[in-house]
Amino acid sequence: MPALVLLGAQWGDEGKGKATDLLGGSVDYVVRYQGGNNAGHTVVVGDQKYALHLLPSGILSPGCVPVIGNGVVVDPAVLLSELSGLEERGVDTSKLLISGNAHLITPYHTTMDKVTERFLGKRRIGTTGRGIGPTYADKINRVGIRVQDLFDESILTQKVEAALDQKNQILAKLYNRRAIAVEEVVEELLGYADALRGYVCDTTLLLNDALDQDKVVLFEGGQGTLLDVDHGTYPFVTSSNPTAGGACTGAGVGPTRIDRVIGILKAYTTRVGAGPFPTELFDEDGEKLRTIGGERGVTTGRDRRCGWFDAVIARYATRVNGLTDFFLTKLDVLTGWESIPVCVAYEIDGRRVTELPYNQTDFHHAEPVYEMLPGWSEDISGAKEFSDLPKNAQAYVKALEEMSGAPVSAIGVGPGRDETIQINSFL
Ligand code: IMP
Repeated sequence: MPALVLLGAQWGDEGKGKATDLLGGSVDYVVRYQGGNNAGHTVVVGDQKYALHLLPSGILSPGCVPVIGNGVVVDPAVLLSELSGLEERGVDTSKLLISGNAHLITPYHTTMDKVTERFLGKRRIGTTGRGIGPTYADKINRVGIRVQDLFDESILTQKVEAALDQKNQILAKLYNRRAIAVEEVVEELLGYADALRGYVCDTTLLLNDALDQDKVVLFEGGQGTLLDVDHGTYPFVTSSNPTAGGACTGAGVGPTRIDRVIGILKAYTTRVGAGPFPTELFDEDGEKLRTIGGERGVTTGRDRRCGWFDAVIARYATRVNGLTDFFLTKLDVLTGWESIPVCVAYEIDGRRVTELPYNQTDFHHAEPVYEMLPGWSEDISGAKEFSDLPKNAQAYVKALEEMSGAPVSAIGVGPGRDETIQINSFL
């Protein structure tokens, strides 16, 4: 089983870091294929907790090669500080590989992200402010700066000039901000070149060779299905494709090479930033989920919006990603409720709907239709086998599995590396 994609099945923050890390020991390459330092993975190894933003979580598994693919947007300052932070804690980062085709987030992208959000006012997306959208916009507009440009001063200068020509007009005339000097940006970027040079290579060639040699390659998505620019709750989305197809374009491997697509699914739902969220709770249950689940963004420190499990979304994730398995996370957070509502359909203007509406207005009007499932009060964090779970917790998992359309192959029952019940092997 050489090629696996692992991605968020909801709005991100499903606990992907834990799932990748669980596989880390048996995986040869862990590849990020989209997004940038808007992501946040928390990985707990022993008594150590690591918060990763840009680096693939495989960086924590000795023997595994972490790869930043061409579809990722890289803020070099963040990358270098994340690397030195890990090195200070004794983590070997020398195996990291970075695609020369990945685009760079520069200071003007971060500035543009912040000013456009401010300009949007109450229509803002609630971005992470990390320059993600403007960097992808430049990529598509063909005025982006790529990692390989760091190693050719003349090309870099020409490209920064081309990018700033228009942006400086916008910054000065529309947003009343000072223009950004080309030399300042070029000088900063050139300052990163030597530190990054040794990591940069043709990752597409390397990964295809690895697959030819039957190596195990794990493609790790950032964010989640409903934040996908094509398949998510547009415009309240990120600017890349976290869905399974994004692994192919963002790493340069063909779809025929992917063997398994694992959706990470939280036992309830959370969302950061603006946009529709049918099962969102505004009462003490929402507060309880937030507190017990530690639902605060790893990247932004913002409180996450919390709600009950939404099976309509899970089914949609199965469909648009071709999911073969689910990894159900944070089941332990639901311990203590007498009964647990699960959204099985929406009611939209008097109609009952069981598939995610493609029409944005319909989705904004969707009211959840709940089925109540019996809860459990026993501590489940020590469960090693499915049969160790209380009967009602087993029934909750089985019900979710049936509604969501793919088998639950692993269950997270606590934050630690070993607090996982593995039902089917992923490899
Ligand atoms: P951006 O990716 O910074 O442009 O933000 C766009 C939207 O995606 C905002 O609603 C963010 O809160 C959300 N978002 C971006 N990254 C993550 C993530 O890793 N987890 C959850 N939400 C995210």
